[in-house]
Amino acid sequence: MSTVPLFVQQLTALLDGETNNVTNLSNAAALLMQTQSDLNWVGFYVYTPADQLLHLGPFQGKVACTQIQPSKGVVGTAYAQDQLQLIPNVHEFAGHIACDAASQSELVVPIHVQETLVGVLDLDSPTLERFTTSDATAMQQFVQALEKHLDLTPQATLY
Ligand code: SME
Repeated sequence: MSTVPLFVQQLTALLDGETNNVTNLSNAAALLMQTQSDLNWVGFYVYTPADQLLHLGPFQGKVACTQIQPSKGVVGTAYAQDQLQLIPNVHEFAGHIACDAASQSELVVPIHVQETLVGVLDLDSPTLERFTTSDATAMQQFVQALEKHLDLTPQATLY
């Protein structure tokens, strides 16, 4: 029996043969919004070395904060500490950035390409305690599948 969740298998099929980063991040965000229940926002923040900020990447949901400093909010903390953040109640997270007032709980997963931390996947839910440790593991598998399809060579279009 496969231990790879169906939506991770779907991602691999979706990205196969495509090398454009914007294309792949866009479809990854859309796939999560389509397959995961009870989300109000899902998308990417991408680190930009030129200004040392996390910039809003492809996403599904309401318009969101365009720039986040590493160490600020749940997103910046995940990036600065290079650690997954599973937040049952965002109102109890000091420094939480309320891009969408509907968000009650949040899961943020760091993304690496060839051992370089390049950004994060951010999932927001309008329900308290929406995300479980099983969700966290599944999203790490999702990010690992995605990482294989991101190109960070200088000519790539991610930055
Ligand atoms: N809530 C996040 C900001 C990003 S939005 O949720 C899309 C944070 O505290 O970092």
